[in-house]
Amino acid sequence: MAGQVPAKVDIIGASSELNLNLDHTRLMGNPKIDVPLAELRAEALRALGACTAADIDGWLARYLGRKGELTLALRGIAERPADERRDFGAAANALKDELEAALARRVEELGGPAKGSVEALDVTLPGRRSLQGRLHPTTRTIRDITSAFSSMGFQVVEGPEVEYDHYNFSALNIPEDHPARDMWDTLWVDRADADGRRRMLMRTHTSPMQARIMERQKPPVRVVVPGRCYRYEATDATHEWHFHQVEGLAVAEGITFADLKGTLLEFARRIFGADRKVRFRCDYFPFVEPGVDMAIDWKGRWLEIMGAGMVHPRVLSGVGYDPERYTGFAFGMGVERIAMLRHGIDDIRQFAANDLRFLSQF
Ligand code: PHE
Repeated sequence: MAGQVPAKVDIIGASSELNLNLDHTRLMGNPKIDVPLAELRAEALRALGACTAADIDGWLARYLGRKGELTLALRGIAERPADERRDFGAAANALKDELEAALARRVEELGGPAKGSVEALDVTLPGRRSLQGRLHPTTRTIRDITSAFSSMGFQVVEGPEVEYDHYNFSALNIPEDHPARDMWDTLWVDRADADGRRRMLMRTHTSPMQARIMERQKPPVRVVVPGRCYRYEATDATHEWHFHQVEGLAVAEGITFADLKGTLLEFARRIFGADRKVRFRCDYFPFVEPGVDMAIDWKGRWLEIMGAGMVHPRVLSGVGYDPERYTGFAFGMGVERIAMLRHGIDDIRQFAANDLRFLSQF
């Protein structure tokens, strides 16, 4: 038996008096039961000593798991010679107890059960909340705005962000070289048409959709157009080079300024509260006449939230509508501006900063 496992093997502490009488030579060739328990024990304990918390599960599977080495050894008992079975079984079971105790000590040493391990299952703990996505505050504000208008009979339409200067300017009564073009700092798209003039741009407002919609459809028209706009602009707490607007347009026979006021007052009340007051002041936009800005009362002040006005007769005739017969109003508001008011956000750059600390507050 020289070089073999000694007859009395101190595998199992209290049971160390057991005579294991492991005669491996007789078992050779049967891998299921040819497991020298002493070697297994030494190897398992050495490996356990080297385990970090992250390795514990792997160790458990390797030695004590359903297909673990000791488990396989125990299953092999039946194939052992009858006179060995009792001792082998007892020794292997004792080794199992010993390894389990050693495991518990090691886990303790490593600072308690690791997440996910069997020992970590504490049914009294509250459940882990799964991370849920949510809509961006801009998207939510757009939905609130458009649903306020769709309940008043407006359709929701979207349009292109890369636009012809014709729709962004000319069709809105802002001819080329007209100084009113300076009201919008424009990002031009570097793509020239046949005669070499650059005519494409990132839309500076959603108003080009006024002309696109009227070209496509006969009155009556009642639409709101949410969408992203771009301006060539230095950014600060109240200016972004890209932002969102919601445009509105209503054209039919007999629409008056009173309709504009009534519709926008109703909108302001739905979004900002039932006893909101609104103020209209004259303002200039080339595509409306008269033009106004609308402000709401907010913490004792008037805050401008949109431009509006009666659609200019030249815009109507430009799309083939008879301005003697049809009238209408249009308006355009900044979405982030409205979200900032509602939620007390003080920096418009937050909306595109992609910072979860900001986003998860909504
Ligand atoms: N398009 C204008 C702007 O961006 C707002 C506006 C829309 C004004 C419709 C009047 C009518 O400033």
